[in-house]
Amino acid sequence: MAIELNVNGRSYSVDTDPGTSLLTVLRDHLGLTGSKYGCGEGECGACTVLINGNSRRSCITPVGHVHRQKVTTIEGLERAGKLHPVQQAFLDADAYQCAYCTAGMIVTTVALLDSNPHPTDAQIAEFLGGNICRCGTYPRILAAVRLAERALAQGGAR
Ligand code: FES
Ligand code: FES
Repeated sequence: MAIELNVNGRSYSVDTDPGTSLLTVLRDHLGLTGSKYGCGEGECGACTVLINGNSRRSCITPVGHVHRQKVTTIEGLERAGKLHPVQQAFLDADAYQCAYCTAGMIVTTVALLDSNPHPTDAQIAEFLGGNICRCGTYPRILAAVRLAERALAQGGAR
């Protein structure tokens, strides 16, 4: 079946079983390998993408469910060679070690700050709570969220 997708502003038609995971389609069909396969069960957040602006686990999202929906991956956050303020904040705060979790953390943070521009520490912990960092860089991830919050408040809004 041909599934029509809008990914990072580009239209695609993918001929696959609608039950195939969105993560598989992104990585294996479209070559967008920024979203990572961690657990494959919706438990770690490494595969997080935005679907119509909401953070979702692409490993457990059948691609048929996003037919004609708007998908944004980590690759789609940058504009004309300029990193999204959340991407820049993670770089500036050194908020990673192996970086396997980072794309999912960044995409989830974008969704958080879109919906709540000034979250409390508890709200950040709750929103990002489903994203696992095996390297334990949580203090620097929190610092990156705060940096991004300030950058967006100072006009980095997109
Ligand atoms: S790979 Fe999707 S939540 Fe872990
Ligand atoms: S930086 Fe290694 S899993 Fe988070």
